[in-house]
Amino acid sequence: MSFIYLSKHEEKILDGEHGEAKRLAMEILVKLGDINKADRLIEIDAAHISGISYKNIGDAGLEFLMDLKNLGAKFSILATTNPSGVDRFNILGVDEHFYKKQMLILNVLKQMGAKITCTCTPYYIGNLPYRRHVAFAESSATIFVNSVLGAYTNRESSISSIAAAIIGKTPLYGLHKEENRKPKIRVIVEDKLKGYEYYLLGYYIGKELGEIPIIENVYPNVDELKYLSAGLSVSSINIFHVYNLTLESKNYDIEDLEKIKLDRKTLDDTVLMFKSNDYEAICLGCPHLSMMEIKRYLRMKFKNEVLLFTNYSFYKLFKEDVRCENIKLIPDTCMVVSPLKYKTIATNSTKACFYLNLQGYKTHLINI
Ligand code: F3S
Repeated sequence: MSFIYLSKHEEKILDGEHGEAKRLAMEILVKLGDINKADRLIEIDAAHISGISYKNIGDAGLEFLMDLKNLGAKFSILATTNPSGVDRFNILGVDEHFYKKQMLILNVLKQMGAKITCTCTPYYIGNLPYRRHVAFAESSATIFVNSVLGAYTNRESSISSIAAAIIGKTPLYGLHKEENRKPKIRVIVEDKLKGYEYYLLGYYIGKELGEIPIIENVYPNVDELKYLSAGLSVSSINIFHVYNLTLESKNYDIEDLEKIKLDRKTLDDTVLMFKSNDYEAICLGCPHLSMMEIKRYLRMKFKNEVLLFTNYSFYKLFKEDVRCENIKLIPDTCMVVSPLKYKTIATNSTKACFYLNLQGYKTHLINI
């Protein structure tokens, strides 16, 4: 028995009157709502679907998507997709079997109405939910849109984002409610942070503090806000506030919150386990690179092989500008969800290090 309130129309969907695909999607949303004690469903404007790499979902995931499509599943709102397991040109050189299966996954999602963006920064290319309710399933993008754009989204799973995109609704709980977005701890940064240090800041807060922070004495640019989001994304925190900068930061009375002071040395010490000093290639673009980052890296000279990951639109804009023969600009995929041939990888992203280590790769965190 469900405790979530459903309108007559929603009940009919759950009873199967609008077809089996919608019934299944509604059942998933109702179960999710019940687990999280949601009172009702709310309308959303967009979804972002993760878990689409063949490396991660394999044949079972592909079959699930095909079954759903064959039941008549169609997305009713804008639904963008996260990186795939390989780029469309197979610049990475994965085997033919993997490539074919990946293209099948993308094709099925396309037939269901997804916008095949294959990027974890969909907010650069049109899925930009400014102060709107959405269902995002990519962890760093979820944190970025909640914190920087004032969007309202929980961190969805691949399945729940698909269900939400079919119905155009999500259960009302978690970060869709103002009361759950409040900061719980003040983080006062004593040194002036720059660039990659924002990955470390996010990683430290997620690992050591574990509470929604309001961060003071920092002045991040948009790329640095993205690094902060990615650093936090390996924890369960899905929103942050930067004092005097992010949209909601002035909404709260923070006077009585616990204060934590942080310096650069503490941040550096937290990521020592990601540093091995040994690497075959440098991988950058976790999350996917912005135009400013691409321009900056294309001006640099490298001795090692360098893979730069971004979305297809930025790839097209900059592919002719690659001058250094060691650099490959790659669209659609990333170092974590593709089957990379290297065993030891240098990157500036704590998120990439975390997931690559889990997969048995050796990483070397670099400040670049
Ligand atoms: Fe994006 Fe891949 Fe990192 S999906 S956030 S580049 S792990």
